[in-house]
Amino acid sequence: MTWLGGLRPRLVAGVAAIVALCAGLAFVAVYHGTGSELRRQSARDLRSDMDAFARSVMSARGVRGARVAAERSAGGQPFRATSRLLYAVIPGGPVITNEPELLNAGPGGDGATESPAQEARERAAARSLLNAEPGLTERHLPDAGNLLVDVRRLHLADGTPVLLGLGESTAPTGRAKRGVAKAFGLGGALALLAAVIGGTLLAGGVASPLRRMAGVAARVDSGDLSPRMAARRGQATEVRALAESFDRMLDRLQDAFARQTAFVADASHELRTPLTVIRGQLEVLALQAAPSPEEVRRVERLVLTEIDRMGRLTEDLLVLAHADEDAFVRRADVAVAPFAAELLEGVAATADRRFALGRLDDVHLAADPDRLAQALRNLLRNAIEHTESGGLVRLEARRAAGVVAFAVDDDGPGIPVGDRARIFDRFHRVDASRSRRDGGAGLGLAIVKAVAEAHGGTVFAGDSPEGGARVGFTVRGPGPRGPGGPPAAAGGHGSRGSTV
Ligand SMILES: Nc1ncnc2c1ncn2[C@@H]1O[C@H](COP(=O)(O)OP(=O)(O)O)[C@@H](O)[C@H]1O
Ligand SMILES: [Mg+2]
Repeated sequence: MTWLGGLRPRLVAGVAAIVALCAGLAFVAVYHGTGSELRRQSARDLRSDMDAFARSVMSARGVRGARVAAERSAGGQPFRATSRLLYAVIPGGPVITNEPELLNAGPGGDGATESPAQEARERAAARSLLNAEPGLTERHLPDAGNLLVDVRRLHLADGTPVLLGLGESTAPTGRAKRGVAKAFGLGGALALLAAVIGGTLLAGGVASPLRRMAGVAARVDSGDLSPRMAARRGQATEVRALAESFDRMLDRLQDAFARQTAFVADASHELRTPLTVIRGQLEVLALQAAPSPEEVRRVERLVLTEIDRMGRLTEDLLVLAHADEDAFVRRADVAVAPFAAELLEGVAATADRRFALGRLDDVHLAADPDRLAQALRNLLRNAIEHTESGGLVRLEARRAAGVVAFAVDDDGPGIPVGDRARIFDRFHRVDASRSRRDGGAGLGLAIVKAVAEAHGGTVFAGDSPEGGARVGFTVRGPGPRGPGGPPAAAGGHGSRGSTV
């Protein structure tokens, strides 16, 4: 019975219930409306006929004339033929009526076939009609059924009291109401059937994209990221929007998954290379029965270099692993110009290049000084690696629309246009063999990008006016000037991993 919990039976039941409720309400309204309208109509007819009857009796001359007029009216419309009961109590004779059986039934009138109980009931009914108060009432009469009866008490010109009665069977009203009920019963059943069929089709249409989505989700859950909802033209806007965002989510998931896999593969590869070198060198050493002290020192140097390389690589990997965390950036007030000058001075001591300061705008930033230093050292280190001894390496920091742009220019060979977008990708190197010799694994610029993005900025790479490369990044800001600037966030200035 689990299908009962499904969308389709629920929708069908809901639609059917609404249709049944509407049909029921409409039925009650029409049934009662029909009944009361017919009753009003027959009361109107009855009154106007009673007016005519009364006129004919009252306009006759004397009591005798009145009796004759009443008899004429009664004789003209026998009860059985018209369902109209007419009677008049006028002194000087028996009750005048078109239904003598009911009103004049003396003992044994036609009583041969009637039981004493029935006769008693008929007599009681006759008495109540003959003594009725004036006005319109509904009564039940034996044999005649339900009647709407109008009674009037009048006085002839000579003062003689007269009672006139006119009744009409309510059977036609009842028949009309039964007809309405029957029509509604049939119409309601058809409407309900239509509701069930329509609801089933509708529910199928609503449920099918959900079922498809559940299928796709199940396949994704089992490890296959390739299936997609593929929104279709005819689908409802909401379903299309859902399918599209579902697919976009899967695209991103698949992309992230692929990048993650590639990252892990690249990282493993980069770590394996120094391990292989170390192992090879140690094996060479082990094969020698009595290695010379020079040989031992040579192997030691090589092993230490590779260990350093692995250390830097793991540091960089750790930095990138934490790049998405909030704690990656601990903001403090950074006075850009002295900060950049000091940093360049520190790097200048490590290589024989012509280090220069370009334009330094006097601005303050709410930024993480350690991360900024890490990114700038990576840029400066790249410039050093790609220039000859005595080459130019220049650092600048300019204020631009809403940002501060840091850039490093050099007069080296520059970066091929086709590589400029990808050099910021993890492990991307333009010339792998050269970088390998110089110790880079292709993570330096990825870290620059992570630092820039963590500060709401972007990266850029282009041509330097000196003919080499110009690589840099922006940081959102600057904040208010001076020491009264942005509150310095908690956080030490201790060294964190760097490729320098
Ligand atoms: N100043 C530069 N001049 C020429 N090429 C550069 C420069 N900076 C970066 N590149 C290129 O970008 C690549 C990526 O740089 P990076 O991410 O720092 O990796 P790595 O320095 O470890 O190779 C480098 O391999 C190099 O090919
Ligand atoms: Mg580098």
